[in-house]
Amino acid sequence: MITRLKNEIAIVKERDPAIHSAAEVFLYPSFKAMINYRIAHRLYEKKHYFLARFISQRSARKTGIEIHPGAKIGKGFFIDHGTGVVIGETTEIGDNVTLYQGVTLGGTGKESGKRHPTVCDNVMISAGAKVLGSFTIGEGSKIGAGSVVLEEVPPHSTVVGVPGHVVKREDVSMPRETLDQTDLPDPVQEDITMLKRENTELTDRLLTLEEEIRHLKKQLEKKED
Ligand SMILES: CC(C)(COP(=O)(O)OP(=O)(O)OC[C@H]1O[C@@H](n2cnc3c(N)ncnc32)[C@H](O)[C@@H]1OP(=O)(O)O)[C@@H](O)C(=O)NCCC(=O)NCCS
Repeated sequence: MITRLKNEIAIVKERDPAIHSAAEVFLYPSFKAMINYRIAHRLYEKKHYFLARFISQRSARKTGIEIHPGAKIGKGFFIDHGTGVVIGETTEIGDNVTLYQGVTLGGTGKESGKRHPTVCDNVMISAGAKVLGSFTIGEGSKIGAGSVVLEEVPPHSTVVGVPGHVVKREDVSMPRETLDQTDLPDPVQEDITMLKRENTELTDRLLTLEEEIRHLKKQLEKKED
């Protein structure tokens, strides 16, 4: 237990630049939520479901961080600020993951069984992001503030927006979507325009040939006279 406490203190000190002393750690909602979660999760694993939920719900009221005791969370987990964080029952979180306030790791309401995301090692999920569904957020990825992520994220990607889309992978920006949705190309109209142009060229050529034939005929008539 002492080792666990020391570890949790070390994580907060390492991850939050605003901290000045180890004692401040005890004021952090994230610290309290994690201690409560570790106890509740043990009880949950031993099938003491009511007691586990009792501890987690009490912790949610006190800290604003609601972690279902069934969620699996690795080492080095840190929630900055904390208010409004919700982590669902079948969520799996790897090592050294950071969440900010307002993050939901939830379900869409359309799945049963495994309904919540799997978050791999070293992922950062920014303030207010919602990650909904049973897909995986790949190792080392970043989810931008306010994003709503609804599908798998490859490792080492940055995802932003609603719905979330990958804007960077392996630190390289992804090409922008430049398709003009208003003035979409019309292939039929393009073909008609090309045929019209060819028709005009052929007509011009025909007129020139007719003119040349008329001219040759006149010359022949003159020679015969
Ligand atoms: C996503 C984030 C982590 C940056 O990741 P990154 O890999 O360094 O990405 P970049 O800053 O290079 O941004 C990549 C692109 O996404 C855009 N972008 C970044 N964050 C965004 C967001 N939350 N929403 C929409 N677009 C965003 C950038 O403008 C940039 O667009 P551009 O290529 O057109 O210039 C960061 O922008 C973010 O959201 N941080 C929030 C952290 C937080 O929650 N802080 C709260 C503290 S209390």
